[in-house]
Amino acid sequence: MSISRKDFLKIFGSSLALGSLPGTGFAKQTHSDVQIPTSGGEPTDEGFWQDLAKNAYSISSDFINLENGFFGIQPKPVLAAYQSYVEQVNREGALFARREYPKKAAEVKERLADFLQVSTEELLITRNATEAMNIVIQGYPWKQGDEVIVNQLDYYSMIETFQMLESRGILTVKTFEMPLLPDSPEEILQKYQAQVSKNTRAILLTQVSNITGLIVPVREISTWAKSQGIDTITDSAHALGHVPFDLREMDSDFVGMNLHKWMGNPIGAGVLFVKRERIHELQSFFGDKAPQNDSISRLGHMGTTPFAVQLSIPDSIAFHEKIGIDRIAARMHYLKKLWTEKVQKLQNIEVLTPTDSTLSCGMASFRVTGKSGKEIENRLLEEYGIFTVARVLGEKGCIRVTPGLYTQTEDVEKLAQALISLASQS
Ligand SMILES: Cc1ncc(COP(=O)(O)O)c(C=O)c1O
Repeated sequence: MSISRKDFLKIFGSSLALGSLPGTGFAKQTHSDVQIPTSGGEPTDEGFWQDLAKNAYSISSDFINLENGFFGIQPKPVLAAYQSYVEQVNREGALFARREYPKKAAEVKERLADFLQVSTEELLITRNATEAMNIVIQGYPWKQGDEVIVNQLDYYSMIETFQMLESRGILTVKTFEMPLLPDSPEEILQKYQAQVSKNTRAILLTQVSNITGLIVPVREISTWAKSQGIDTITDSAHALGHVPFDLREMDSDFVGMNLHKWMGNPIGAGVLFVKRERIHELQSFFGDKAPQNDSISRLGHMGTTPFAVQLSIPDSIAFHEKIGIDRIAARMHYLKKLWTEKVQKLQNIEVLTPTDSTLSCGMASFRVTGKSGKEIENRLLEEYGIFTVARVLGEKGCIRVTPGLYTQTEDVEKLAQALISLASQS
């Protein structure tokens, strides 16, 4: 039985007039009703940042959240868009997924490519940075005897992926200790240079360390590594949306990113960039009928994707662009400086992050003499209502502090006061 379009609309309701729905013509348009001034927003422009927090976020007032490194709180317009996509997917089901989504997904990818200033042919939308990085690490054409360089500030699960390949006899992992407080990006470059050997095939670069927030100079290291015939595999999970970011300039041929951290997208979205000329070298991580050609899509057969999460990507980009990475990075750096400068000189507090803006942005870590990271995390929450997170770092561990775009100066000032008080009891 065939049904006419008129009957079809009668059966399914007008919601199938997809173009008229909120949240469907999203290439450059969003659900945003939050006005963000184009001027102002300097790091000390408290009015701007207060208005942003008030108008664009719905945040629990029960505690101060300084653990935005896990995932970013979605701004209201992004959340509203996401909810509308969830409803649409749920209303229209497989008809939407099969007939509408492929076109929408292509538009999403175009928007993302436009934002990242690379070709859609070089991007794959993944479910997170772990998936993006695994596609590269496990698909890379390793040869017998290859060595990979990692350090203690890299993300543990990327190190573990390399170690897994090592245990299968595929490569050798060489680990070195990155100084916690290097004086300059050049010093970091030199540390990497000192590690390479004739067997080095690749270096894992964590652009912004999830442990201390240390920023490594990806471009300088990648360009130098290339001159030695060495690849960099870059984990930018904490960089995109947090620090000024230019994939082409970074000069790394393999980069994994997250959209649900600093870009504020709903959870379940990451990105993989592979330079076009390198795609054919990667083995497919998921089964594909063309296991080795130059199409990046063959690397992405990861099954049913979270449609609504991916549809929200243009909305997150639009919100992010309205504030702009320069305003964001400057504000994040300012917030970090506010608290670190107040506690840095205290006898019992060790700030583990260099505070210069070339070496860190919003994230920073510290430890308190004689106290475990978990104890400080718990006490900050229970006694001061401030949520941070203990991280593994050597034997002593550390506590990581990560503001969000809605964080106010008084929040980080309260943290500094709490640390002064904790340090005096140590
Ligand atoms: C540096 C770094 N890389 C990768 C990841 C993994 O991100 P996801 O859990 O979203 O895959 C994280 C998560 O915190 C991270 O901090």
